[in-house]
Amino acid sequence: MVGLTHFVVRKALQEYLPPGRRSLWPTEMLNSRRIPSQHVGQSIETRFDDHEAGLCPQLLGNEEGFIRDSIVKLRDWGARAIDINMGCPVKKALRHNYGVALMGDPDYAAEITAIAVKYAGELPVSVKLRAAAPPKEPQSDPTSVEPDPEFLKDFCLKIQEAGASWITLHPRTAVQQRKGSADWSQIASLKQVMRIPVIGNGDVQTLEDAERMFEQTGCDRVMIGRALVAKPWLLSAAGAPPVEDPLLSGANYGKFLSRVLELSREHYPEPLGVRRFRYLANFGSPYLEYGHHFYSSLTSTDSYDGLRGRLTGFFGARFDRPQKMMSRTCLRY
Ligand SMILES: Cc1cc2nc3c(=O)[nH]c(=O)nc-3n(C[C@H](O)[C@H](O)[C@H](O)COP(=O)(O)O)c2cc1C
Repeated sequence: MVGLTHFVVRKALQEYLPPGRRSLWPTEMLNSRRIPSQHVGQSIETRFDDHEAGLCPQLLGNEEGFIRDSIVKLRDWGARAIDINMGCPVKKALRHNYGVALMGDPDYAAEITAIAVKYAGELPVSVKLRAAAPPKEPQSDPTSVEPDPEFLKDFCLKIQEAGASWITLHPRTAVQQRKGSADWSQIASLKQVMRIPVIGNGDVQTLEDAERMFEQTGCDRVMIGRALVAKPWLLSAAGAPPVEDPLLSGANYGKFLSRVLELSREHYPEPLGVRRFRYLANFGSPYLEYGHHFYSSLTSTDSYDGLRGRLTGFFGARFDRPQKMMSRTCLRY
């Protein structure tokens, strides 16, 4: 996830995973046109820890040469799987004909998948996609695009045929971006026809939500995006009763941010680390009762020390000041 699943955040999140449990860890979306000429491992998007298991770089691309050179580099770098982005709806991706634009041409999307499979060798290749293709003509009314379960099934069967090892479905259209609700029935209907695993995604904010998604859709795994960077303990609670104490959650969120800040100081130059920290807090702070005060306090400092002061000012020096945190919020961004 752009701006969020960089090295430091992944590292802080991984500390919540109980021993013996595993997860896939997607990187930020990586542009296949840039990776071949980059020193992977040095940019914030490509840094990783030697001990990171399940590292799954996500590639944006549509040309064989770039995809090949990116995959060869990422394999050496420590990738455990390669994910192809077929869901990014931003204008730039549509203009370049990658991201969700690939859903507009199922045969070509399958070809891209097959290319990735060819160069990934023993590494599995997955595809992350949406509920519908974007409009065919850039000028046409984008709101006319409705989810189309039959199209989606045919599209995913082609991806499967091309050699994908699993797919992750975020069941919103490109036009919806991340607004409105994710239509889980699309995951259920896809699950009925696919042989490869289907990972369901969209609007999971609590363990109950995750359990409901498993029950309602029959999906093989659940991907949690925005809520995980607010409530990382969802990872450690896997398999435990879904109970969240609002005051305890507030303190725990403060401790998570404190850990991210500590790691940022260790690994990132200050201006970059501060920007990324604020961006992260933008997604978790809406869960706090006074999240807007907390978030706006972060915007008035440009230093690590300043952020530390804002954290302890809000959560208390020992993170024991009662700060209520809701288990769900309106996912706005
Ligand atoms: C800040 C942000 C960046 C994102 N970047 C990516 C991305 O690079 N690749 C991708 O496949 N999805 C990306 N997404 C979409 C998420 O992967 C996910 O599909 C979406 O947020 C719905 O899941 P959620 O309700 O659990 O957050 C991004 C979402 C957010 C909020």
